[in-house]
Amino acid sequence: MTAQIWVLGGTGRSARTIAAQLARLGLTAVLVGRDANRLHATAQQTGSETLPVPSLTAAAAEIRQRHPAVVINTVGPFTTTAPGVVDACRAVGSHYIDLANDVAALSAAYEMHDAAVQAGHTVITGAGFGVTATESVVVKLCEGRPAPLRVRVDMVPSIAMEEGTAGEALIGTLLGSLQGRRITDGHLAPARIFSDAERLTLPDGSQVTTASMPSGELLAAHRASRARHVLSATSEAPSSALFRAMMPTLSTLMRSERLRSFTTRHLARVHVRAKERPRDHSWGHGVVTWSDGETREGWLRLGDAQEFTGAVSAEIARRLLADKGRPGAYTPAALFGPTFAESCGATYLLPQPGRR
Ligand SMILES: NC(=O)c1ccc[n+]([C@@H]2O[C@H](COP(=O)([O-])OP(=O)(O)OC[C@H]3O[C@@H](n4cnc5c(N)ncnc54)[C@H](OP(=O)(O)O)[C@@H]3O)[C@@H](O)[C@H]2O)c1
Repeated sequence: MTAQIWVLGGTGRSARTIAAQLARLGLTAVLVGRDANRLHATAQQTGSETLPVPSLTAAAAEIRQRHPAVVINTVGPFTTTAPGVVDACRAVGSHYIDLANDVAALSAAYEMHDAAVQAGHTVITGAGFGVTATESVVVKLCEGRPAPLRVRVDMVPSIAMEEGTAGEALIGTLLGSLQGRRITDGHLAPARIFSDAERLTLPDGSQVTTASMPSGELLAAHRASRARHVLSATSEAPSSALFRAMMPTLSTLMRSERLRSFTTRHLARVHVRAKERPRDHSWGHGVVTWSDGETREGWLRLGDAQEFTGAVSAEIARRLLADKGRPGAYTPAALFGPTFAESCGATYLLPQPGRR
């Protein structure tokens, strides 16, 4: 085996786009997964190699034995899957990347910072559209500035859906992030989920409504800005009044581990119909307000959000292979700065200060 970048969850949507983007960069992925036939089919589409393993525990054992340079974990929920894989990576000095975008998984990854520094390896979490697109805008707007008072980030993904099932990785992650949260007075605090709805006019003139949904974006925007108050919102928050009314009950129910895994298994099998991308671009958006009243707004424009996720993970892997990282646990723009998103194909649109 010559390739050094392993992609766990090798048969999934994210793994496929990551492998394709790695190939575009001249790098070969090793797709690691539990179904040899489907792995082989995916590898053929993307020019990858394969490593069939029966479970993530077996994948971790292989990491300890074969020391890949970089491991990209696409198997959510990451609060469950990351610890064992990161432990294996730390033991042999492999760099670790995952696509987490929920509060619990990002918090857990940040806690790994000191151990990662000691082991001399890099842990990158949030290596997907949501965290990278919104935190990049915040890093850009706050560059060289004191800590602001208030930050709001909005993510507006545009993704083409394939026919198939949603899958346990995605549903498990979604159900795990149904608790309302925001940063208040510098601390993570409970909040109403799907509140603070705002009608946004995108730079292309179209409009979307976003509402609060606590996610990895919230923590990444807080770290990037050090603002006292932070809110993260998304156009994916359900707008139906009925759903919003049911939320408190639903999120309480989903705190039960047994009920959540039962619901995850059932929803994961629900058939999803193919759907075209709803708009040409995906957007990351941020509004930063300082205590003197100055407000800056910025947008990051990119294409399909899933493709961007692939480009982000592939570019991070390329940089870590080339020794361009540093030991510790980070989100992408926190480590590589605001230009990182541009090297993944995105463009900033920054209106003049004062002209929101
Ligand atoms: N940060 C972001 O912006 C971003 C963007 C995209 C995705 N994501 C996250 O990335 C994750 C994957 O999304 P996806 O759309 O790629 O999902 P997907 O298409 O369902 O792929 C998931 C992969 O994980 C494997 N898997 C699931 N449970 C497993 C387990 N218990 N042990 C071993 N392998 C397991 C699946 O293997 P089988 O085929 O064998 O079941 C499949 O290969 C989700 O958590 C999602 O939330 C984040």
